[in-house]
Parts: sequence; structure tokens; C-alpha cells
Amino acid sequence: MEPSEGYVAPPLDGVWATAPYLHNGSVPTLDALLHSTTRPAKWKRMDEYDHENMGWKYEESGKGRYDTSLPGYGNKGHYFGDHLSAEERKAVIEYLKTL
Ligand code: HEM
Repeated sequence: MEPSEGYVAPPLDGVWATAPYLHNGSVPTLDALLHSTTRPAKWKRMDEYDHENMGWKYEESGKGRYDTSLPGYGNKGHYFGDHLSAEERKAVIEYLKTL
């Protein structure tokens, strides 16, 4: 196989349970994946799952945070959900929960 640019789209079966998202685990929730302007720049996972936004609850302060400004840690791309309304995004997330 010839290598190509970008990433292979992963299967979404059980995706509700596999946060954090993107190939480098840079996005804590499905809601943030589908709403790129809300993705945290620096964050640390809490030991509690966020059933509304689907993913990890997180805090943005403190030591040991994931820093998306570091090389290879970026959270850019996959902007396909940005144009959705809040209601539409919620509906997509409800669908993703069923996979
Ligand atoms: C509203 C429509 C879409 C939804 C709900 C959606 C959902 C998702 C989710 C949940 C992930 C994260 C998977 C994971 O980290 O395990 C993902 C990753 C990905 N999606 Fe989508 N997606 C959508 C549109 C698209 C489109 C249109 C494309 C291609 C043109 C695409 C290509 C990809 C790729 C390549 C990844 C992997 C990115 C990475 O690992 O960095 N997606 N998608």
C-alpha cells in the first residue's frame, strides 16, 4: 500500500466509550470534537465520564495537563460538526451513542 496524506477514518462502533478523540487523544468529548471552537487548549482528565457531552470531564488548570500547543499534540482539523446547531449536534451525539 502507498502511504497517503491524513488519517484513516476509524470505525465509530462504541465510540461513545473511547474518549479522548482523534488519533492523538487530544479532544476530551464528542461534543468538542463536533464543535471545534470549544476544544480546550490545555486540559486534564478527571475520573468521571461526562454523559451529556460524551467523554471525559476535565479541568483546565493544574499540573500534568495535555498541552495541544506541543508538536504532535494538536487538536486541529475535523471541523465537520462546526456548522451544526446545538440541537443538531445533540442529535448526532445521540445517534453516535447507539453505535
Ligand atoms: C457529522 C459528520 C461526522 C461525524 C459525526 C464524525 C465522527 C467522528 C468521530 C466521533 C471521530 C473520532 C473517532 C475517534 O477518535 O475514535 C472521527 C474521526 C475522523 N473522521 Fe469523522 N465524522 C464526521 C465527518 C467526517 C467526514 C466528512 C470525514 C472525511 C471527509 C471524516 C473523517 C474522519 C477522519 C479521517 C477521522 C480520524 C481523525 C484523527 O484520528 O485524527 N469525518 N469522526
